[in-house]
Amino acid sequence: MCGIVGYVGSNGSCVRVLIDGLKRLEYRGYDSAGIARIVSDEVKLTKESGNLDNLVSNIDFSETSNLGIGHTRWATHGKVDKVNAHPHKVGKFTLVHNGIIENYADIKNNLLLKGYTFKTQTDTEVLCALLDYLYKRNNNVLESISRLPLLVTGSYALCIICDDDKDNLYVAKNNSPLIIGVNEGENYVASDAQAFIDKTKKYVSLEDLDYGKISKDNVRIYHDGKNKTVQLKRFEFGLSDISKDNYEHYMLKEIYEEKEVFVRTTRPYLDNGITSLIDKMPDFSKYKKIRIIACGSATHAGLVGKQMLERYAEIKTEVETASEFRYNKVFLDKDELVIVISQSGETADTLEALKIANNNGNDTLGIINEKGSTIARLSKIVMYTEAGKEIAVATTKAYLAQVTMLSLIALNLSFKKDLLEKAVLKRVLSDAQLLTNYIQELFEKRQEYQKVADGLATHNGVFFIGRLTDYALAMEGSLKLKEISYTHSEAYPAGELKHGTISLIEDKTPVVALITDDVIASKTISNIKEVKARGAHVIVITNKDNLEDDVYDEIIKIPKVCDLFSPVLAVIPLQLIAYEVAKIKGCTIDKPKNLAKSVTVE
Ligand code: AGP
Ligand code: GLU
Repeated sequence: MCGIVGYVGSNGSCVRVLIDGLKRLEYRGYDSAGIARIVSDEVKLTKESGNLDNLVSNIDFSETSNLGIGHTRWATHGKVDKVNAHPHKVGKFTLVHNGIIENYADIKNNLLLKGYTFKTQTDTEVLCALLDYLYKRNNNVLESISRLPLLVTGSYALCIICDDDKDNLYVAKNNSPLIIGVNEGENYVASDAQAFIDKTKKYVSLEDLDYGKISKDNVRIYHDGKNKTVQLKRFEFGLSDISKDNYEHYMLKEIYEEKEVFVRTTRPYLDNGITSLIDKMPDFSKYKKIRIIACGSATHAGLVGKQMLERYAEIKTEVETASEFRYNKVFLDKDELVIVISQSGETADTLEALKIANNNGNDTLGIINEKGSTIARLSKIVMYTEAGKEIAVATTKAYLAQVTMLSLIALNLSFKKDLLEKAVLKRVLSDAQLLTNYIQELFEKRQEYQKVADGLATHNGVFFIGRLTDYALAMEGSLKLKEISYTHSEAYPAGELKHGTISLIEDKTPVVALITDDVIASKTISNIKEVKARGAHVIVITNKDNLEDDVYDEIIKIPKVCDLFSPVLAVIPLQLIAYEVAKIKGCTIDKPKNLAKSVTVE
């Protein structure tokens, strides 16, 4: 969610490092920002509401500082304004926080009784006061921080400065990401490695309930009162992986990377035909059932996966939204494989669902994009999608990689269960070879997407319809349009409209209809006729050649490939149409309002 940056070094460049780091975390989504740094032995705070430029215009970059913390806030408690922006300072403690303190009201009431007063509406300021209170009693910063797990419920990544120790940063983590970047004579703290990846690739990851003390030459990590051995790791990505190249937006760049993403995700499993698919993939054939749990687009990928797994591998597959799953009564059979899907590997709800499944004794598989992320580390088995760094808040290439991975698992299981016909296998392998050509064909239809987008941009409401796989795709198309172009849209199973929603269809209501799933195409066509009869303007996305003219007003043709890879192609026009609508409407495409890239609060 929000970004945290911390720096301790010796060449005086702290302010520049903090602001550069925060700039690289902008993509995560935020509404205000601030920094605190030690200047002339004093803690100096600057914060502003709105984007980083507002903060930057109030910063003196000639200031010499060797230690500081910075924050981009995504408000959870208290309105978006300068007062509620982080860092917060109470007594001797200044800190930035990512997460939510669930019992902040109780802690606040206790501290009010002790004489503390509060300037902000945030849960974070309460934490700051709590540390100050504890410190007054024990005069030991680490000891005070070590008490947090006993006193605080909720999630936190913290980077802390104490007035009495201006040479060290202090950190603590529970259920929110935080890592330490390690370099010669300087160290970094960040919620995301992007903040310091141009300076160092060496890092130390923190586990939940770890806390630590970071000086320019030392990283000390503790857990439950004991010193932990620090394990130094190395990132594989660099600054070039996060550049926009010459693209106008990251989202467009990431869509255009989808060819390579498909190849990178499939190559390890298909480079030697079915042999590599069997040898290189874990054995999933012992499971009787699959439960896929995820959030947002990752859930939509799971819904496509369900169709593939049930059809090809004849394995019952249920898909659940993590934020619901975690509070439902748990009905997980022991022979059920739980698959969690996440681009960031840090989504709070998905992480919690994973912990529930792990605690229940289930085998868990993480289909994750971010290497070494929390969900990847806690999954019993991990399969990494190879989408590379995704910066735009709206996921595109990572979704495509998730769908691809689920198709490969379905193919693997189908073969192992002896359900895969030779001809189908042959088609799949040959389509895999040709897919990048087909994706290129879709990229070349940009003018068609722009034309559709011109129409959609003038409407306040759009329906996306389809059945089975096409319904799962419709959900993703609708989410893409909503999140980046702020156009209200709904995805509906085409057969369900007549049970209520068709009352909203009137003259020229835009309906984007998907007809790519052969199993159900004829039924969808009947449903499309129902909306057309009521005046809808229908834009069909299809791989069919022989559609009658009266089924659509506009049509986008996609190449016909096997069902297992068809969704990979079908999603591309949906992504590009959403992109073009957002562009016409002048939206901040890569950083849509109110959204964050990595949703680390529940
Ligand atoms: C997709 O465009 C969204 N930004 C969002 O739905 C996202 O897919 C969801 O928050 C899950 O994120 P994750 O894959 O990082 O877990
Ligand atoms: N809960 C804190 C707040 O609302 C932190 C939010 C965040 O993670 O940015 O200020």
